[in-house]
Amino acid sequence: MSTPTALVTGATGKVGRHVVDGLLEAGAEVRALSRDPERARLPPEVRVLPGDPTDSTALADAAAGADVALLVWIGFDATGAEGPVAMLGERVPHVVQLSAADLTTGGGSVQQGVWADVESLVEQHAEHHTFVRAGGFAANTLGWAEQLAGSDTVRLPHPLATRSLVHERDIAAVIVRAMLDPAHHDRAYAVTGPDALTQAQQVATIGRVLGRDLEVAEQPHEEALAELAGVMGPEFARQSLGYWASLVATPEAVSPDVERVLGRPALTYERWVQDHRADFGG
Ligand SMILES: NC(=O)c1ccc[n+]([C@@H]2O[C@H](COP(=O)([O-])OP(=O)(O)OC[C@H]3O[C@@H](n4cnc5c(N)ncnc54)[C@H](OP(=O)(O)O)[C@@H]3O)[C@@H](O)[C@H]2O)c1
Repeated sequence: MSTPTALVTGATGKVGRHVVDGLLEAGAEVRALSRDPERARLPPEVRVLPGDPTDSTALADAAAGADVALLVWIGFDATGAEGPVAMLGERVPHVVQLSAADLTTGGGSVQQGVWADVESLVEQHAEHHTFVRAGGFAANTLGWAEQLAGSDTVRLPHPLATRSLVHERDIAAVIVRAMLDPAHHDRAYAVTGPDALTQAQQVATIGRVLGRDLEVAEQPHEEALAELAGVMGPEFARQSLGYWASLVATPEAVSPDVERVLGRPALTYERWVQDHRADFGG
């Protein structure tokens, strides 16, 4: 493929912006789908089209003639995904999906979890697929920034839950490789950080980078459930909390796939905090 044309959904998001930069750097022609192209703030070389992945018509227009597409399905279940995914599969020979290492969370159409449901649809409809199954995003811990603005304590439901948090730049770098190199067709990668840290260790890392003495306090389950349910709905919140509780006894796996695909070690959580110092007021 000389100058591939790549469609990026979720292009203005945490991962998507890095994907766009990586594709441009590699010389691809980039199209992006955004609900509000005027506010997308993407590089001028990118053709930004209006819409989102739930809109089959917008997706069809954006996908016409593209060689590869990144699918970022935003939603806590797969309701409404079949039409758009089928449309994408008809028009684009290779669909890369930003999926999740924990495939089973979320109530989907066949009750196996949103990410597995969307993967099944992609597998069914696209000629080639690549599933980039991300572990917990390091960026999820930006949710602590508000607490840390007013205090040195972070309240958490499971401080000893142990996760291999991944830097969004690594997720994007794996996606870019997958989008541009047919060697990654019909593969699935588990994309995690290089080591597993308890949430208490994550908070300590933020403290170390910011030069602050931070503490963790255990948040009661019911309070955490109520907070999360407001963001993601009660069912997904209950499943997420259950998953985090399980990570106390069974730490999240550390995958070698970032290093395998990129030829360098995955970025550490400490590196991620350094890159996001300003977001924590540092
Ligand atoms: N957080 C985790 O730990 C984790 C782990 C594994 C997998 N994932 C998956 O990663 C994906 C999220 O990636 P990300 O964090 O890079 O995305 P993001 O920053 O949350 O959002 C990406 C873009 O999607 C669009 N968007 C946001 N909300 C939307 C909505 N309600 N309806 C339609 N479009 C919306 C926005 O673009 P416009 O405003 O330009 O339209 C946004 O910039 C999801 O599929 C998630 O399930 C997350």
